[in-house]
Amino acid sequence: MVRVGIITASDKGSRGEREDHSGPALKELIREMGWEVVEYAVLPDDQLLLEKTLCLWSDEINLDLILTTGGTGFSPRDVTPEATLAVADRLVPGIAEVMRQESLKVTPKAMLSRAVAVIRKRTLIINMPGSPKAVRECFTAISSALPHGIQILK
Ligand code: MTE
Repeated sequence: MVRVGIITASDKGSRGEREDHSGPALKELIREMGWEVVEYAVLPDDQLLLEKTLCLWSDEINLDLILTTGGTGFSPRDVTPEATLAVADRLVPGIAEVMRQESLKVTPKAMLSRAVAVIRKRTLIINMPGSPKAVRECFTAISSALPHGIQILK
């Protein structure tokens, strides 16, 4: 069973000022893969807190996959890629390349996402943009290769 964590990075979401729709959209996609969502958190756009959560979920909870949504754009508060890169052991450029390539077919704004994908120990960490629509488009673009990638990481 693939064990997955989902982080929604959103200042407003973490303060309860905006309902999170992207996290639940990802949960649904994960369940459709037959995988298990073990952890889910809505966090503020705080780089240190994001880093700590990524480390805890990778090193202590030993998740196979962590998906983040939000905080990949140009706003000064968007720091999800920086937090992800700060905890990375190895980069996986191809996953972000394919997400952007496929998303560009839908919207030119796809080039504005700075999302990255990395490996920390035995955990694959993938950033996605913040909207439920973007999450569905990005996940659909990469899902066919994920089972093999996760299998060889174990
Ligand atoms: N990717 C897909 N597939 N679909 C989208 O609608 N929106 C873009 C982009 N990537 C989008 C997308 C927009 S409008 C922005 S600003 C960036 O992702 C960053 O989004 P974020 O700041 O919510 O992470």
